[in-house]
Amino acid sequence: MMRHLLAIADLSDEEIEEIFRRAGQMEAALTGRTPLSVGAGAIMATLFYEPSTRTRLSFEAAMWRIGGAVISAPDMKNSSAVKGETLADTAKVVSSYADLLVLRHFWDGAARVAAEHAAVPVINAGDGCHEHPTQTLCDLYTLRRAKGALRGLTVAIGGDLKHGRTVHSLVRALARFGANIVLVPARGMEFPDWFLQRLADEHGYRPTIARPEDLRAVARDVHALYLTPAKPHQLALFTDTEFDLGERLGTEEPITLDALYMTRSQRERQEAPAGEGVEYLHVDADTFQDPTMRHTLLMHPLPRTGEISATLDRDPRSVYFRQAAYGVPIRMALITFFLEQRAAESRVPRAEPGATRLGPRCANPNCVTRREEVQSERRFHLQREAGGRAHLVCLYCDHELRIQVIGNRRSRHFHVYEEPMYGYLDGWLRDEALVIFDSVKQAEEAGYKPYKLGPQKTIMDGAEVERSIEELTDAVLAETPELNDLVIVGIKTAGAHIARRMAERIRATRGAEVELGVVDVHGGAEGIWRWPGTAGADAEPVVVADRLVVVVDDVINTGWTAKEALTAIWRSGRPRAARLAVLLDRGHRQLPIRPTYVGKHLPTAPHERVRVRLHEIDREHKDKVVIYSYVDPKTA
Ligand code: CP
Repeated sequence: MMRHLLAIADLSDEEIEEIFRRAGQMEAALTGRTPLSVGAGAIMATLFYEPSTRTRLSFEAAMWRIGGAVISAPDMKNSSAVKGETLADTAKVVSSYADLLVLRHFWDGAARVAAEHAAVPVINAGDGCHEHPTQTLCDLYTLRRAKGALRGLTVAIGGDLKHGRTVHSLVRALARFGANIVLVPARGMEFPDWFLQRLADEHGYRPTIARPEDLRAVARDVHALYLTPAKPHQLALFTDTEFDLGERLGTEEPITLDALYMTRSQRERQEAPAGEGVEYLHVDADTFQDPTMRHTLLMHPLPRTGEISATLDRDPRSVYFRQAAYGVPIRMALITFFLEQRAAESRVPRAEPGATRLGPRCANPNCVTRREEVQSERRFHLQREAGGRAHLVCLYCDHELRIQVIGNRRSRHFHVYEEPMYGYLDGWLRDEALVIFDSVKQAEEAGYKPYKLGPQKTIMDGAEVERSIEELTDAVLAETPELNDLVIVGIKTAGAHIARRMAERIRATRGAEVELGVVDVHGGAEGIWRWPGTAGADAEPVVVADRLVVVVDDVINTGWTAKEALTAIWRSGRPRAARLAVLLDRGHRQLPIRPTYVGKHLPTAPHERVRVRLHEIDREHKDKVVIYSYVDPKTA
């Protein structure tokens, strides 16, 4: 099968070691000016739809250095792309002229489309915000050459983590090789949640996250920040809703920062470019003065745009120009590796393991599948985890999609997907009957009819709901001596109404106004907003930093919603403590989220659905909690 390098995951640890071994030999040959001919007779095509200095020129230099030849469109604006030629067609045609194709493109997943159509190996030289695996090889090689090993290193990565493709590949590789990672994103430029979740799923790893204003502290005093004593060092935030910074401060052994990897603000990829006055990270000689940093490398994939002061260029710890220089031996090694692979492999296109004909459209607006008609029907992996959590992962750009609506092709029924339905999803997938829709509307337009739920049974009446809310409130009050510190944040929709009732009870019993916020984990609106109608509701978000935050929801099912709400709170500021209050705990959640306050423990079967009906939401109903079973779709 044809091998390509589309993402850093396409190389095994052993293959990366092999490329490093060869790069060492290439370096020696370059130093000794030994002419090489391992690439003689081979042609490499470079297709760069986006500007590049380092990647393009070092690839081309590498090919010449091993005796091969290079063909290239000097500017894709002068290629048939401007006449509307598809990437697929370009890849097909150019690969018939060359033995290797190196592609840079502005769409996420573009390299995969090229690989699907090329008759030769494709190397991804950067695709949108997605990956830049060959830069990561240069970065790892630089680190290893300087530090001797990768395992156990502590690397802080700062800047635009949302749009920077180099860091997307680098963090995956560092997690794989057992390094400790501290992320210092510029404000609003954090890694997307799906990316962090994937790191956790694939590597059992959650990097430590610091605020931009902590950069200096991270650099000088990394051991005193957020590292847990466990190794690899992780933040305990999402494994327990009760987190106490005091306990986390300090670890048993001092940790030194082995490298600080800075990146530029990727303005060309930002939806709304960060304007003047938006804080970005900056490193200067002063940042690097502390004696604890005498062995800390300063790295950058370049180009830099002001985030590293030129006064550091002569500092022996600054290795960014060395990183760029290693681009030649690394890419010489990589080219020889792929030319050998190509000689050994058939030209049969690679079938995607686990790929499934699912899902009509990726949600990432920059995904290649939304820009160019891809012929492949396999656009998503269905990612399944123990306990029923399931989501779609775009094969091209890696973005994650929540499953919204599932249907059965045979019975032509659809259902809004909930995790208790996992058994059906799995069975239909096996029977090749599974369809996934973006929305109910789409399912209806496709002629599918809704499945029914079984008969409902009331398990809590209005009086019981009210009593449980009172008990929840009293439990919070019992542990909160200073009400000025308290912020109650309800998860929209039912959780927000319960939070409001809790605030009302506090007013009634204590005569105190507590601050009341709303978080919408589905709506995409960042921040914790004031409850509508309260003072300042249209203005500033609720301040959670250094306060006691009680997050309120109606039912804890899988724990996903609570985790998302905690993530949103953490993004808004660092609370002194965050606690979770739920009206009902069903007792079989999948994430390790532990509610601090529970109105009622209600053991239920996973296939059952519990719905809290509040009169504020559905005026035809009095408050009540009902339970349904799913009707077996075979009999629906
Ligand atoms: N590091 C990097 O990819 O640089 P270029 O954009 O100049 O290729």
